[in-house]
Amino acid sequence: MKSVLVTGGAGFIGSHTCLLLLEQGYNIFVIDSFINSSSRSIKKVLLILKEMGIDAQRKIHLTNGDIKNPSDIEHIFKMSYKLDKKIEAVIHFAGLKSVSDSIIDPISYWENNVVGTINLCKVMEKYNCKNIVFSSSATVYKTESNKLLNEENICEPVNPYGYTKLTIERILKNLHSSKSSNWRIASLRYFNPVGAHHSGFIGEDPLGKANNIYPQITRVAIGKQSRLKIFGSDWPTSDGTGVRDYIHVMDLAEGHLSALNYLIKKKPQFIAINLGTGKGTTVLEFIKIFEKVNKVKVPFSFEDRRPGDNASVIADNSLAKSLLNWHPKRNIEDICKDGWNWQVNNPKGYLN
Ligand code: NAD
Ligand code: UFG
Repeated sequence: MKSVLVTGGAGFIGSHTCLLLLEQGYNIFVIDSFINSSSRSIKKVLLILKEMGIDAQRKIHLTNGDIKNPSDIEHIFKMSYKLDKKIEAVIHFAGLKSVSDSIIDPISYWENNVVGTINLCKVMEKYNCKNIVFSSSATVYKTESNKLLNEENICEPVNPYGYTKLTIERILKNLHSSKSSNWRIASLRYFNPVGAHHSGFIGEDPLGKANNIYPQITRVAIGKQSRLKIFGSDWPTSDGTGVRDYIHVMDLAEGHLSALNYLIKKKPQFIAINLGTGKGTTVLEFIKIFEKVNKVKVPFSFEDRRPGDNASVIADNSLAKSLLNWHPKRNIEDICKDGWNWQVNNPKGYLN
């Protein structure tokens, strides 16, 4: 397989995955509406590769397009044929991802995530491209205990965002089960992606307000915010704060290449796979490690629990390990170091 379409490739996880794809010699086509990103991330990806002695300029075709418009997607498939770089697989990151925004504006989430994916699948069918790796999320799970979550756990999302992800999984599963199907589909359920590429050239730079813990920690550490609000000190966890499975974005990116390699070697199938480390970290532990590794202070205060939160969300990642031969290599210290390096070198994100 030589050519891959990456939807949402300018975004946080997409840009890190594009870097790896280009490093491995793939031709990539990227479609991004830049609703939550900037084309500068791709420029930085090319810069990292240049420093590695790889000129990937001609290997990447970036299009400003929206998957809500089927013609934007078809345009790229046509281009790939014209260039004799026929797209053989898709890594599908494009989507809206804020849990809170999805509660305020559910229609946009259904339209963007679900309609966008249906458009994509239709064009893929038309061009007989039936290999897809999809960005799902741990938000599809119903989490009631502190047990590790495996792929068989009950899927019952608690917010519209999670429902869009579960619905897309069902559409993809139906596609695979359809009569003449030879779709190969991996739905990767990410736990909490954080960190940045160790170069400090690319990282997370959301355009709107970022509610997730990591951007909040770095905002406080750099002095843009006076303290971190910790949502809840009375959770049934070791220190009373929420536990999550934080996974380094480069480990996650590697998981996509492993999933792609797995799919093309195997028979047509739909498979859902957790991508997490299997290790939980409390909010207080996260802050302490961040302070120690980066020698900075992160003042905090305890607040009420945030509505819709769970005590503990940790992956059982044994399926990814056995099936994909994928093993997360970076730990929480690496996450803190690399994410901070990105923040310090790019205080204004890609606007620098
Ligand atoms: P991101 O917002 O940085 O990247 C998504 C990219 O898709 C952005 O570049 C955005 O501009 C683009 N996009 C959105 N809608 C589009 C559309 N209609 N057409 C074309 N481009 C569009 O987010 P991310 O953190 O890189 O997440 C990537 C995927 O992983 C998303 O689907 C997200 O739901 C999923 N996911 C993310 C997390 C997380 O915490 N980061 C966790 C689980 C799942
Ligand atoms: N937290 C705080 N203060 C903050 C932000 C978060 O204490 O300012 C706590 C939360 O209460 C939680 C933990 O930090 O205990 C992690 O919260 P995040 O908002 O960073 O992440 P979530 O686990 O709520 O959700 C994230 C993404 C989802 C994704 C999910 C996958 O936002 O898109 O992980 O598990 F689907």
